[in-house]
Formats: sequence, structure tokens, C-alpha cells
Amino acid sequence: MTLLEIFPSLRSGGMPPRLDSAIWPRDTHYDDAGRITIGGVALADIADQYGTPTYVLAEREVRERCRAYRAAFPEAEIYYAGKALMIKAVADWVTEEGLSVDVCSAGELAVALAAGVEPARIILHGNGKSFDELEVAVQVGVGRIVIDSLAEITLLSALVADSQQVMLRLSPGIDVHGHPAVVTGVTDQKFGFPLGSDAAAEAVARILRQPKLRLVGFHCHLGSQICDPDYYGEAIRRMVAEMAGVRDDHDHLLTHLDIGGGHGVPYRCGDAEMNLTDLAAIVEDALDAACARRGFPRPVIAIEPGRAIVARAGVTLYRVRSVKHIDGGHTYVTVDGGMSDNPRVALYGARYSVVVANRHPTGPHMTATVAGRFCEAGDILATDVQLPADLRPGEVLAMPCTGAYHHSLASSYNSVGRPPIVAVRKGVSRELVRRETMSDLLSRDIGR
Ligand SMILES: Cc1ncc(COP(=O)(O)O)c(C=O)c1O
Repeated sequence: MTLLEIFPSLRSGGMPPRLDSAIWPRDTHYDDAGRITIGGVALADIADQYGTPTYVLAEREVRERCRAYRAAFPEAEIYYAGKALMIKAVADWVTEEGLSVDVCSAGELAVALAAGVEPARIILHGNGKSFDELEVAVQVGVGRIVIDSLAEITLLSALVADSQQVMLRLSPGIDVHGHPAVVTGVTDQKFGFPLGSDAAAEAVARILRQPKLRLVGFHCHLGSQICDPDYYGEAIRRMVAEMAGVRDDHDHLLTHLDIGGGHGVPYRCGDAEMNLTDLAAIVEDALDAACARRGFPRPVIAIEPGRAIVARAGVTLYRVRSVKHIDGGHTYVTVDGGMSDNPRVALYGARYSVVVANRHPTGPHMTATVAGRFCEAGDILATDVQLPADLRPGEVLAMPCTGAYHHSLASSYNSVGRPPIVAVRKGVSRELVRRETMSDLLSRDIGR
């Protein structure tokens, strides 16, 4: 017999569920009226003022995450991976907190520049950079470009007038055993060159033949949602050995090693996460050991966290449209958003929790499936979530941990405009990105 069976009142009244600080922004609370507040602003008020669905972003959470990285890696170059959420305000906050910025397209570069990020603090990635993207990156003077193919070496040597720092992306052959869509450290995948391969050797030799390209180091990115820091230690050992090989073969010293991002965050209570202190210790130990073994001078380490900076700062608000109990089946709570504002469930099978935000979720509960409003049977946002049994259309639901790869992956499927992003801080809310309107969508459609 479970505790709930012995004491049903534990479920049907009294205390509201805890808002676990592992997945909610650090200043999330219930107010006296039983509503959830973040940064001193009630989520129900945000839903009323800005409509739904809406992405809420806690500025303090983003800044505190940056500070935690700076404290754990005082010597490293820390690039915020903009692909997680690239908007001007976030570019501002992270650079104010001392981070640099990683971009992977001319669009992300334009946002970073519009936010006033110094070009020298920007690194450009991408396995399919166009001539135009490389040209603009060189012209504005980005600090580094990570070369991903032989074709890029040719393009860059034609484009660079003076001198450009570059890195070479290698895949160190490390399988982090994640979802196949996000495992990028293995040899047989589209990014970079396999470490130790003839192709990698050829790329190094070609870059070194170009006097205007300054090869400063190697780059790798192992994948996403990695919680075991040992993978990074192994990557460092393999990459330093390769760097020593370049010194021996070409008498050229690589001074920088970029080990990418991919640090795991919890999406639901109890999920694992990367521990930054452990990661920093493993990075140090691996560097010491690898450099001593090869007699190689310690390179400057760069890291590129994206998700770990912004995921937990974001909460998506939805309004309930309907509640449907299927005889002998599930209870479907349909909301006004779905796979267009959160494609991660359909893409990766990601799992989320959902809570009612406009009142204390006390009283009897039901087990529900939260369904999106889009015309796909697979448009399901969360399964097996506990919601009040008397949940009604019009109530506000909040889904935590939606700050990373939500806005940036969002679409306008079914011609539904993308949600706004509303920042909260010290009791004040402000719109950072406005809702995409019908006229935004129509303005691109030229017609006959
Ligand atoms: C090269 C590179 N760096 C950094 C990141 C950021 O990864 P995460 O947001 O998981 O930290 C990615 C993500 O795909 C990436 O491809």
C-alpha cells in the first residue's frame, strides 16, 4: 500500500507541490493568492498582459548561470552558444557577465552585432557556411572561424585580406550515447574531420600553407545533454595528442583547445545534470596529464555552453483550450501552443513537467496528457502529468525548462505566429521579442 492510499489527503489538499529549483528559475515562488511568480511577477498576469503562449525568461537566472561558469572556469574562454537562444537581450546579458558568443550563421552573427557584441569576442561555426556568411564574418572581424571542410579553407584564403584566426573542427571518436540527432563526437557524422584521419592531416597542411590563416587550435563538440564529465577528459587527452602531432610534424604550436558545449540540464525533477565543479576538475586533470605526457604547453581551454546557460531561465505559458476525457483512454488537456513553440518533444522524445500557474494546485488531481493545438496526432507536449481534476478551459499552465532550443527551433506551422519572449526581473516584466502577427506571416507571402 502506498502512502497516498493510506493518507489520500496528502494528494487532495494542503500543500502545493514544490517548485523544484533544479528546473525552475531560482526566484520562483507561490504568492499569497496561490499563483506562481517568477522574478516577482505572477505568471497569470503575464498571460493576461501578453497573451499565450508566451515564453517567460528570468534575467537573473541567465546571469547567475554565467557567473557559475566564470567561477568554475576562471581561466577558460567561455562562449555562450547562441543557437540555444539568440536574441539581443541575451547576447547583452551574457557578454555583460564576461562571456563571449558562439554563432553558427550570418543571422546569429547579425543578432550578436546588433546587440553590440565586440566582433573579436565572436566565434563562427557551421558545417555548411556559405561564401556570403564567411565574407561577412571576415569583414566584420570575428575573432575566430572554425573550419569544417576543405572547401572552407579555399574560400577563406580567397576572402581574408590580412589575417584571420581559425580553428579546425575534429571529431574525436567519442560516443556519448545520446539521441542519434545530437551525438556529434563520433567519427561517422557530418561535422568536422575524424581525428587522426588523412582528411584531418590534409586540412591542417592546407591551412598552414595559407599565410593569412592563423591556425590557433582544434575544436570538438561531443553532443548534447552530457552529464558525465569523463567524456570531456577523454576528448582532451585525444585532442592534445593530436595537437602535439601538429607540433612534431609541422613545427607549429597550437595554443587553444575548444571542447564545445553539451552540458546536460535536468528537464524534470530527478533528471541528471552536469556538475560544473566536477567538470572543471576533470578538465584540469586531463589537461595536466595529457600535456605532461606529450611535453606539450598547456593550451587555453574554450567551452561553449548554450542550454546550460538559458534552459532553466525559461518557462512557457499556455492557456487551456479544452479538457477531454476519453472513455477507457487518456485525459487530453489541449493548450493553445504545441509543437511549433516546442518541437523538442516530437524531435527528441523530450519529457517535461507542467503545472497550473494561476492557482494552488491543491485538491484532487488527474493524470493528463497535455496536447498541442497543431494538426498532427504527434503534437503532444507532455504525458502522465498531474493536474487539478477540476482544471477548466482558460486556466494557465506553465512548463519549466523551456529557455533553450524552443524559441530558436520554433516554427509558424499551421500559420500560427511564434510566441513573444517576456523577461522578468525585480517585479517587472518587459517584452524582449514580440509575438509574430498575421501580418508578419502575410508580409512574406508575395502571392501571384
Ligand atoms: C559547436 C557547438 N558548440 C556548442 C553547442 C551548444 O550545445 P549545448 O547547448 O548543448 O550546450 C552546440 C550545440 O549543438 C554546438 O554544435
